Amino acid sequence: MTNTDLERLVDTSDNWIVTRTGIRERRIAPDGVSCSDLAVEASKRALDMAGLANEDIDLLICGTITPDYKLPSNACVIQEKMGLPNATAFDVASACTGFINGLSIADSLIAAGKHRRALVVGAEKLSSMINYRDRNTCVLFGDAAGAVVVEASGNGSGVLSTMLKSDGSMRSWLWTQSGGSANPVTEDFPFDGTDKIHMNGSAIFKVAVREMVQAATTVLDQAGLTPADIRLCVPHQANIRIISAMAERLGLREDQVYLNIDRYGNTSAASVPLALDEANRKGMLKRGDHVLMVAFGGGLIWGAALVKW
Ligand code: ACO
Repeated sequence: MTNTDLERLVDTSDNWIVTRTGIRERRIAPDGVSCSDLAVEASKRALDMAGLANEDIDLLICGTITPDYKLPSNACVIQEKMGLPNATAFDVASACTGFINGLSIADSLIAAGKHRRALVVGAEKLSSMINYRDRNTCVLFGDAAGAVVVEASGNGSGVLSTMLKSDGSMRSWLWTQSGGSANPVTEDFPFDGTDKIHMNGSAIFKVAVREMVQAATTVLDQAGLTPADIRLCVPHQANIRIISAMAERLGLREDQVYLNIDRYGNTSAASVPLALDEANRKGMLKRGDHVLMVAFGGGLIWGAALVKW
């Protein structure tokens, strides 16, 4: 879906969207393709790249806020569709930080000896949650999935440090007001648009820059590294101006920051693994490189992970 397509739906312009967000296109999954379908496709490619069989996976974590169903979890649907007989599967609902939270949980469970090989997938069909009459949100979001396989390395590579934080007092800055148990959609409370994403974008913007810088600094400090040691920063792709402001404050050069927001928009939990996979398949990552992932989203919630490739 291009900016020109959106000009036909709401009072907006290609110029406004590009200059205020950096987004030119976003991908919209057709009817009949659900969030788990996107997740399965990404997960198969991750397993294929890792050279592993389905039976090798004993943990499946899906970061998503757009699961196929409220019950069961998206991860259980993915498990059945893929055929992962040995996996424990569950979701993490941490909006745009879902993948980093999932990666951190997988890292901890593997380090604790509870699991051996995890599939961590971030997947969203955000188009199912968007009001395409609301120009404040509909220009921003897209559908996508990305996945990684995590296992103990024993050679010093892998997840070096992670940081997760949240502040629920700002939850109404980005939320769906109805459709949950607080305000269920019933005959008395019909669909009125409040079951779609509402966002106070400019308020979030300032907190996002500040906390992403803080999260990145924390994981670098924990690992005894500085921004100069980073080969690639793979940030959550919400807004090019947020990413630029964060990179400038951290002192990261342009060539240290991976961007694909122009083609996908904000894909929430899928954003970081999608960008990581693109960078990897382009050959941008070599063994021993330090990769900094950092994200921020509705909750509010934010976090970072530092990985040695
Ligand atoms: N086209 C044209 N005008 C628009 C559009 C649009 N699509 N959207 C908003 N505007 C207007 C507003 O109505 C406003 O007009 P007004 O001044 O007459 O009231 C004007 O543009 C400025 O609006 P702002 O909201 O102040 O614009 P801002 O520069 O802050 O950009 C944006 C908005 C892009 C949403 C930005 O604030 C942002 O990216 N915020 C962060 C979003 C984010 O990171 N969310 C968390 C992750 S998402 C998740 O967790 C699922």
